[in-house]
Amino acid sequence: MGARDERGAPPEGDAAVHGQALSKVYGTGRRLVPAVRDVSLKVRASEFLAIIGPSGCGKTTLLRMVAGLESPTSGTISCWGGPPADLAREHRVGMVFQDPALLPWASLRRNVEFVYRASGRRPDPESVDEILDLVGLTSLAHLRPHEASGGMRQRTALARALVMRPSLLLMDEPFGALDAITRRRLNGELERIWAAVRPTTILITHSVDEAVMLADRIVVMSARPATIVREVTVPMPRPRPAVPDEAFHHAVQECMEALDA
Ligand SMILES: Nc1ncnc2c1ncn2[C@@H]1O[C@H](COP(=O)(O)OP(=O)(O)OP(=O)(O)O)[C@@H](O)[C@H]1O
Ligand SMILES: [Mg+2]
Repeated sequence: MGARDERGAPPEGDAAVHGQALSKVYGTGRRLVPAVRDVSLKVRASEFLAIIGPSGCGKTTLLRMVAGLESPTSGTISCWGGPPADLAREHRVGMVFQDPALLPWASLRRNVEFVYRASGRRPDPESVDEILDLVGLTSLAHLRPHEASGGMRQRTALARALVMRPSLLLMDEPFGALDAITRRRLNGELERIWAAVRPTTILITHSVDEAVMLADRIVVMSARPATIVREVTVPMPRPRPAVPDEAFHHAVQECMEALDA
């Protein structure tokens, strides 16, 4: 593997994220739980990849291996040519989960700033202003999490993940706990926000529509242990059309067929 390129492009010929024959088995002795089996995956720099699959199949496990939070039982994974943990140590990974897990006593703005403190840096007010503006929270940033709506809390989580301009954005069901209307609105906003920052992105979602709306490519996984059953390319232009078109319906259909297979 070549050396990393700080500008964000992976070394020539390499994918930004490259998993080879990844498997993960939890437990020991007779209580073995195979969660991921033989998954090979490449994600290009600035690509938006979505992962869908049945509940409990091993999606979060796969994402945790990409994040360097879990080591594979076998296989290898690299991010920009190096171990995922190195990328995380350099604060180049942003993560968003279903639960935004904000600090309850701090304002939304302080929650975003906290990323700097957690990594031993001084908050950069300009970057914080910019990202709050991008996620549409400027006039509400003084609120504390309990005073904010679920959508606002999740925007804060997104701002927190993006404020240090990560190379890699990992999202695990970020809108899973939101109502359908808020979720739809945030889908549109995420596309706009993502296009402004263009991090290499992996999104796990249970919503096929969400995956097709947002992703360049969708990986459909099998029931546990997760294996890749189909890859669906979404040939829709960006910004994505507000009204679902033929290409949208076709991609949804392809994903559904793969999930039902
Ligand atoms: N730390 C762990 N120790 C033991 N087993 C685990 C651990 N984490 C996950 N598992 C098991 O691995 C399997 C895959 O879990 P995982 O959370 O990766 O699935 P998922 O596809 O993200 O599920 P969901 O759609 O419900 O979020 C499950 O059977 C789960 O119980
Ligand atoms: Mg999960």
